Amino acid sequence: MKTTSQLREAFISYFEKKEHRRVPSHSLIPPADPTLLFVNAGMVQFKDIFVGQKTVDYTRATSSQKCLRVSGKHNDLENVGRTARHHTFFEMLGNFSFGNYFKREAIEFAYEFLIHTVGLDASRMYYTVFGGDPSDGIGSDKEAIQHWIDVAGVGPERVLEFGKKDNFWAMGETGPCGPCSEILFDRGPGSWACGEDSCAPGCDCDRYVEIWNLVFMQFERKVAGGPLLPLPAPSIDTGMGLERLACIVQGKATNYETDAFMPIIRHTGKLLEEVLGKALPYGVDAENDVAYHVIADHARAAAFLVADGVYPDNEGRGYISRLLMRRAVRFGRKLGFKAPFFYQVCDRVVGLMCDAYPDLEAKRQLIGKVVMAEEESFSRTFDDGRRALEAEMDRLSGNQQKKLGGEILFWLHDERGFQPDLVEVIAAEQGFTVDRQGYQQLMDVKRATSGKVASSSSGAAGNISQLDKLAGKVEFTGYESLQEQSHILAILVDGRDVSALSEGDEGLLVMDRTPFYAESGGQVGDTGTVVGPSGAADVTNTTRYAADVTLHHVRVSKGCLNVGATVDVRVDARRRTGIRAHHSGTHLLHWALAEVLGEHIKQEGSQVRPDMLRFDFRHFSPLTLDDIEQIEKKVARLVVGNSAVETRVTGMEDAMASGAKAFFDEKYGEQVRLVSMGEGASRELCGGIHVGQTGEVGPLKVTKQEAVSSGVRRIYAVCHDAATDYLLERERKLENLAAVLNTSVDTLDSRVDKLLQRNDDLEKQVKQLKRKLLEGGAGGPDTEMFEVNGIGAAYAFIPEGEVSAMRSMSDMLRDRLKEGVVLVGAVSKGRLMFVVAATKDHPSGFHCGKAVSQLAKVVNGRGGGKADFGQGGGEPERWTEAVQLFRDLLERHGS
Ligand code: SER
Repeated sequence: MKTTSQLREAFISYFEKKEHRRVPSHSLIPPADPTLLFVNAGMVQFKDIFVGQKTVDYTRATSSQKCLRVSGKHNDLENVGRTARHHTFFEMLGNFSFGNYFKREAIEFAYEFLIHTVGLDASRMYYTVFGGDPSDGIGSDKEAIQHWIDVAGVGPERVLEFGKKDNFWAMGETGPCGPCSEILFDRGPGSWACGEDSCAPGCDCDRYVEIWNLVFMQFERKVAGGPLLPLPAPSIDTGMGLERLACIVQGKATNYETDAFMPIIRHTGKLLEEVLGKALPYGVDAENDVAYHVIADHARAAAFLVADGVYPDNEGRGYISRLLMRRAVRFGRKLGFKAPFFYQVCDRVVGLMCDAYPDLEAKRQLIGKVVMAEEESFSRTFDDGRRALEAEMDRLSGNQQKKLGGEILFWLHDERGFQPDLVEVIAAEQGFTVDRQGYQQLMDVKRATSGKVASSSSGAAGNISQLDKLAGKVEFTGYESLQEQSHILAILVDGRDVSALSEGDEGLLVMDRTPFYAESGGQVGDTGTVVGPSGAADVTNTTRYAADVTLHHVRVSKGCLNVGATVDVRVDARRRTGIRAHHSGTHLLHWALAEVLGEHIKQEGSQVRPDMLRFDFRHFSPLTLDDIEQIEKKVARLVVGNSAVETRVTGMEDAMASGAKAFFDEKYGEQVRLVSMGEGASRELCGGIHVGQTGEVGPLKVTKQEAVSSGVRRIYAVCHDAATDYLLERERKLENLAAVLNTSVDTLDSRVDKLLQRNDDLEKQVKQLKRKLLEGGAGGPDTEMFEVNGIGAAYAFIPEGEVSAMRSMSDMLRDRLKEGVVLVGAVSKGRLMFVVAATKDHPSGFHCGKAVSQLAKVVNGRGGGKADFGQGGGEPERWTEAVQLFRDLLERHGS
């Protein structure tokens, strides 16, 4: 029993035998918990049971839980790959008691499993317990000490007391918590990082490694910093890192050398060898090994994140997903990879872990596509960004400086996709720190002005200090009203404070009350008017600085506007009606897309305008006409249902429980605005402006779809009046088309079918004729136009041709001659046929029929005809003589 898989199964079966319910791992996305970015422990999915908010039909449970930690006591990203045992993604084995057993049994189970089932050496074990904390009024855990002495049969010197930092476990600032007891395994003397002599349990080096944490859940903190309240019943939550257990059992120096990581590392090495043309083996160079570790660790994280629907993004969970993928790519570059490779490493993770997590196999293709798309988009700008960063660090070093400014951070993120966290890690490697605050300010200004920030931030800095003072002073009334009486608090022109604007001037107005919605969440800013005692202005756009300072972009149309003036402000109501309809339409479309295409649909961006909407989402193939029809029908059903659109400010937990679409985002505070449409249908967290009843959305019509980048599709649609206009316009086009084709819209398709058929036939005929003409024309010296004694003449010879081809040729030559006589011969089935024909105004006296009889004699055949046309036949071999005679006849005729 040695492999990681076997250990996982041994653990779960052990506890199953002890009457624990086997509970599958929860997704990496925590259930309805805005305080937690990712599931970071096995107990997260049981939180509500611990605190008595939920009951289940079992009181003992066991699981192997997927966890992700990207920050925390030891989990700074920088540690990952550099130490033996820190990971972003890991699996936590756990057993749980919900008011069933407590300390004694938890200790007995843990000891029995490690020593008797796994076979670890008892003499290498140490146990830590909580030494008490006076500030919370809890004493040392004597009970736990005694249980260890009894169960493990060890002396008190093996049971050590530690403080709150090490031996009191809490889920977060709030939530269930309690004293804990850790089981440490002594890996024996060696060259440990701390230096051998001083090393003892509790040291941070890798010698005494913590393998299992038994938490005696007794309390709950309801508010951060608040008192510890007793749980309904004392409970147990334990967590053991599977990778660490495997490391010890397999006798490896680091987790990376176990069977959980080596296949991934070997695969990376193989891919690298293909690129470099030589091996760059693992275990030879420490820095290369770090890169191998990071890539393996992040590949596990990336594969599981994508499988759980966390795609790379600029915010929230997606930010971490992107950060890990880009970090891995950067380490890959260090090793020598140039083209996308990481998706193949992730694919190896799928192969390795899909037995335990079958969902991975089902998502294999998706994982590959998402990771590859992310790699491609990062690769496009990677070299540029890295060069700029290095140049900046060189420059700063030259000036004895070690801090990267906000501007370069902003540029790297905005233009080159290097997230600030990634830059921070790269910078730290060279002893640099970064100016996060400066970066954040530039991001805020960018949001406010919804454009690029000038490369020099000085102008923007003027804005920032001025606008910061106005934070909290602007009230938004636009959910209820479209007009307002208000006061001008400030006027800004090019980042400078001014006291007034006069006719023709442009600037930004800040007012104390405003119904104008500032561009955000994809919804465009409102437009309208501002009218004051001495002038008026048009509001051409509305944006936002920081969370709540609304900036009205104005152009004064008459007189002037002053700071302090009382003004009437009015939103363009007609335009707003269109915006509202398109915003609600966007929610309905989002919902219908997920219904028809699947829950993997994730919003990547949207734009809501008065006359159209645009929606970007993650999906990997174009929508079929059927998909679009189904989506439109689903939306239409909700629209005609005309139910009330509910907007409600509520707690995050409540919102998530209602199935709201939202992604962890710091913008969501404790209170969120939940917009619901239709029974059990669309639920989204949204600050935008919506219709009152779904019927007001009116018809929704998808007008276009396209690909934005690999894996992201864009759909355009129109609603409300814009949809009516669009549909009428299409209808008119159809009517016109039918009229042009001389039919009605109803029979348009059969008419078009017929036309297409006829077109095909004609094309075929044209082709045939062309070929024949070519064949005829290819006669070279036998095709000629000439003049004899003022009579225009021509002859042609078709080596293989029917009568019809011969006639067409004679018509064609006559057309070209305009006036004169032609001779055309053709050979059909070995016989020569020929015609002599004159144009309508043929030269008087030349008798074509007679000419034919004379020519017929020369070719040993027969023939005759009328004055303007004659036809004959004979032997093909004699054609040249016939032509000669034709010339002679013309010559003689004219003389
Ligand atoms: N929740 C505890 C931990 O994460 C034990 O599972 O360590």
